[in-house]
Amino acid sequence: MSTSPPSRRVSAAKRNGTVGRESKGGGLSSLFIGSIIAVVIAFLVLVTVAVDAFSGGSGTPAAAPSTTDTPTAAASTPTTAPATATTVPKQSPTAATTAEDGSIVLPCGNILVPLDKQHKLTADCAPTDLVTVKGGTQLRSEAAGAFNEMLAAASKAGFTLYANSAYRSYAEQASTFQYWVNTTGLAYAERTSARAGHSEHQLGTTADVGARGLELEAFEGTPEAAWLAANSYKFGFIVSYPDGKEGITGYAPEPWHVRYVGKDVAQKVHDSGLTLHEYLLR
Ligand code: DAL
Ligand code: ZN
Repeated sequence: MSTSPPSRRVSAAKRNGTVGRESKGGGLSSLFIGSIIAVVIAFLVLVTVAVDAFSGGSGTPAAAPSTTDTPTAAASTPTTAPATATTVPKQSPTAATTAEDGSIVLPCGNILVPLDKQHKLTADCAPTDLVTVKGGTQLRSEAAGAFNEMLAAASKAGFTLYANSAYRSYAEQASTFQYWVNTTGLAYAERTSARAGHSEHQLGTTADVGARGLELEAFEGTPEAAWLAANSYKFGFIVSYPDGKEGITGYAPEPWHVRYVGKDVAQKVHDSGLTLHEYLLR
């Protein structure tokens, strides 16, 4: 891709042409020499343009996206993402931005941002401190510590819990949503799966808990699900999509989906009686 603005080369050619015209009144020989110089310069400009076109261009704008900062999924980054998203370090806080479609693009790295149908993260927002937890999936370090603590307490109560799915990148969430669209249709997928950028899983602080090979709907109604609902807040986790709150959260009940917000905040959410969604937006 040629990245040098064409106008730069046109300007140079014009400047060269001007030099030739300025030398016009200097006699026949100087006119002749001037013409030769102009022809040579024009030839060199043409050769430069041709080489640049064939080599793909050598100039790179300072703001060009870094391929290391931008995952493959960035190719599908919504046009509504802020123009500066790819130049912002992954964990740098920035102000929330309202996108063209009315959605709100949130800063990356804050574990207390509200994520729902309207609020979203950019495609390049990814945690840098992921560690593997029981079940083989990943959580951010602090959330993983709390998760392990919760699993130990569950074990003492006679339950063997683990995580079926925790951190999911923007690209993985895009695939997940598409999977549910293909499998269950768009209307049901919208109730049960977040679109890319809108999932709490992208934060690296959220886990889908399973037990005894039971996951998602199969986990619902189990003693393990009841234990999780009653105790997860003690370890800093909140069940984001409780039963009977779809009108508020936008998602069907998910008793397996817990998000880490820290013990203090989790205690306050629990005491408030609000959904996490309401608490974070209050
Ligand atoms: N299942 C929840 C809504 C998610 O995809 O994040
Ligand atoms: Zn989940």
